[in-house]
Amino acid sequence: MDMSLQGKHIVLGITGSIAAYKSAILTRLLVKKGAEVQIVITPAGKEFITPVTLSALSGRPVISDFFASGDGTWHSHVDLGLWADLMVVAPATASTLGKMTHGIADNMLITTYLSMKAPVFVAPAMDLDMVRHVTTQRNLEKLKSDGVRIIDAAEGELASHLEGKGRMEEPEKIVAILEQFFAEKCHLAGKKILITAGPTYERIDPVRFIGNFSSGKMGFALAEECAARGAEVLLITGPTALSLSHPRIRKIDVESAQQMYDAAVNAFPEMDAAILSAAVADYRPEAAAEQKIKRTEGENLTLALTPNPDIAATLGKMKKPGQKIIGFALETNDEEYHAIKKMEQKNLDYIVLNSLQDQGAGFGHDTNKVTILSRNGEKKSFGLKTKKEVAKDIVDVIFGTTSNESG
Ligand code: C5P
Repeated sequence: MDMSLQGKHIVLGITGSIAAYKSAILTRLLVKKGAEVQIVITPAGKEFITPVTLSALSGRPVISDFFASGDGTWHSHVDLGLWADLMVVAPATASTLGKMTHGIADNMLITTYLSMKAPVFVAPAMDLDMVRHVTTQRNLEKLKSDGVRIIDAAEGELASHLEGKGRMEEPEKIVAILEQFFAEKCHLAGKKILITAGPTYERIDPVRFIGNFSSGKMGFALAEECAARGAEVLLITGPTALSLSHPRIRKIDVESAQQMYDAAVNAFPEMDAAILSAAVADYRPEAAAEQKIKRTEGENLTLALTPNPDIAATLGKMKKPGQKIIGFALETNDEEYHAIKKMEQKNLDYIVLNSLQDQGAGFGHDTNKVTILSRNGEKKSFGLKTKKEVAKDIVDVIFGTTSNESG
């Protein structure tokens, strides 16, 4: 028996739509795959399907009111928010989508949504004109930007007997989407991944440094993506304006290349992989002045620079079978040739080539355009995407998308 959702805690939100009858099938499929399903239904939802049917299928009392009618027990939406591994609202009416968008917490489903710590999916169901309406579209866009995942309504015959987009996606398809989500989410469980990010600052004197324009966004996005897929991440980062909080990301803040080198070399033997996205300064001032360097009118100031250690090359030498190292390259000419040479010289398994030719790609931007080259000659080029999406592509290429491929 396929128990791909074994032990997963799923909150299924049901709202007032004809498609609510499909929620019964959805509940059955989820339970059959091993999930524990807690149904939260809106008052309007109960007009379409009875809690008796749903509680029989889920094996749990259905929650609708803030208090149980019999004994006045308070149903804690906060507890549900912590219990859940995932929430899916199917069907999601235009009204519920609107309430979710604006936080109108006048029923148990919306309070549960607002307390939810787990990812949330919605499967809209409504008439075609309602789907198309600018308000619905605006709400869906807003929810998407809030991190809610939309399971698009399908085309077909609607309850109004009109044909068009608006049918709730079929339960089998919804289950497949959720299974895929969990598979992607956890296939790096047990893996330890070191990530370097950001610029390094090389001190000239107590108030000045040599740095670069790296924002750290790519490395932070990679850390979040790896952690979201179950990995334990050690993020060693130079100074950035970014923050993150994920229980599986440990962050070590460093300033200079030497500090980043020390932290990385120390941690690498325990790691399964290292992703080196930091823009490490190649040189540092030979000696940082102890006092602020004074300006002398009319005289040049010459700084003697000495090379920094190469973290990637050092880890490349330390690498044991089973460990992977991924580097980044930013080249201005003969990009691929130089990237491949770098990958070989530093003994890397993959190199991610940032394009400098494209607007919006690379340093400081929220978007990036990359080509991923592998040691065994494979090459994958991607379009301009947000760094979050680029992080997904990179992790897919390096570790695969399911537990079977993660090696
Ligand atoms: O040689 P280059 O700096 O272009 O190499 C880029 C790759 O090497 C990146 O992955 C970067 O993080 C890494 N690197 C490093 N330590 C250095 C210089 C670069 O880890 N000192």
